[in-house]
Amino acid sequence: MPYLVGIDIGTSGTKTILIDESGHVLARAVAEYPLYSPRPLWSEQDPLDWWSATCATVRQVLEISGVSPSEIKGVGLSGQMHGSVFLGEENTPLRRALLWNDQRTQAECDWITNTVGKERVIDLISNPVLTGFTAGKIIWLRNHEPETFAKVRKVLLPKDYVRFMLTGEFATEVSDASGTALFNVRKRDWAYEMLDAIGIPAEWMPKSYESPEVSGRISASAAALTGLAPGTPVVGGGGDQAAGAVGNGIVETGIVSSTVGTSGVVFAFSDAPVVDPQLRLHTFCHAVPGKWHLMGVMLSAGGSLQWYRDAYCQPEKVVAGATGRDPYELICAEAEQAPVGCEGLLFLPYLTGERAPYADPNARGVLFGITRRTDRSHVARAILEGVAYGLRDSFEVMEAMQVPLQQVRASGGGARSPFWRSVQANVSGYTHVTINVDEGPALGVALLAGVGTGVYGSVEEACRATIRVSNSTEVDPVAHKRYDRYHRVYQSLYAHLKSDFESVASIVAEE
Ligand code: XUL
Repeated sequence: MPYLVGIDIGTSGTKTILIDESGHVLARAVAEYPLYSPRPLWSEQDPLDWWSATCATVRQVLEISGVSPSEIKGVGLSGQMHGSVFLGEENTPLRRALLWNDQRTQAECDWITNTVGKERVIDLISNPVLTGFTAGKIIWLRNHEPETFAKVRKVLLPKDYVRFMLTGEFATEVSDASGTALFNVRKRDWAYEMLDAIGIPAEWMPKSYESPEVSGRISASAAALTGLAPGTPVVGGGGDQAAGAVGNGIVETGIVSSTVGTSGVVFAFSDAPVVDPQLRLHTFCHAVPGKWHLMGVMLSAGGSLQWYRDAYCQPEKVVAGATGRDPYELICAEAEQAPVGCEGLLFLPYLTGERAPYADPNARGVLFGITRRTDRSHVARAILEGVAYGLRDSFEVMEAMQVPLQQVRASGGGARSPFWRSVQANVSGYTHVTINVDEGPALGVALLAGVGTGVYGSVEEACRATIRVSNSTEVDPVAHKRYDRYHRVYQSLYAHLKSDFESVASIVAEE
């Protein structure tokens, strides 16, 4: 029996799974690590933490499953996108990596756009240069830490650093490379003209593969640390969103996913690299060879609820600890006590700025409409609803672009609560279905490993063999109508506050 391993280098931790060819999960292991925010809007992690978490979780899944390493046909890698790992001469990280939700690079992004020219940028990379993307981070290093910049020899994405440690190869794949703002998404190759124009040596970029292609093999030293057999193939894999889409079966037109992890993402498959004329959605290569996707990314979806839990839900944490329940379950139960629309309490979930539909690093979280009646249940529900309004913004952009939306698959931590799922269905107006497996990106890249090593004939075949719809959450038309009206207020709040967000950011920057 062939077995496959999927490793997902997430923001809160690394998750590794081991599956058989039917997609059955034999073992799963998670290892967490810290996120550093040395200044407001900065977000960093230590690449060595990702590597330790990978070694630990791979060893654990081998131990739990009892599968012999020689029976593992292939390994797939997924991870948080856009991060920058700067490697020097010795191939060791020169500093902590800047992450996808780091917002320090607006000046550098503006410089890149002006240097290359806005239209040429869109022509070359099919996207605007946004603060979260990798290109601005490299220029930031050049501007702010020139001694470190002078030592750079390679720039890798998070999962590709782990690939280097596993195989000794400098490689990436098209879906994650799409999020660097240095990749020609149409041609599925590096945007050499862009690299040249902004002075980044092309040899700093790793070789790019299609996602199911074998990109290297487990080295003897990595075998000793992980327990995997030397020579085991490692496929390209995918950025967490494209990989998660494979793990959710988003491999054909009309099926769309709505994923609430730390970020919140609406993801649609596309046969062609279609670009939103207003550039609110990203146009990236899919992990399905020769295909693309459109996606709207919110930066703090589950992240908003996590903030609320950590800042204000000590009582829920204590009860959860004593009863063996999850604090999120208690928060959602509390939220359910408040009425639809929370009597006008609205939450804007822009805790780390926003990307879709507004690319605005200065945007902030807002709780609007507090009255003497507002209690914890209203606040909890307003957060769940605010995230759902943000996801609806992306659905609306897709509708305006006439992207077919026949089925919405809810996934990520935000799909686990039936109540939050129903809020998402009622706010968006789309029935939300869930599937039989809830492993997202880790499953997606395990399947890609199966495609690259001949276990499955294609990505589509891999999804057919393993994924089916298991549950459906229908829309309540009365609630939907109410949400329609509140959503319009939600949208106008951002428009009204945009310039205030900017003023606050410039005051804070001077402090
Ligand atoms: C996608 C994005 C996030 C990160 C972290 O563009 O920024 O989804 O990949 O999950």
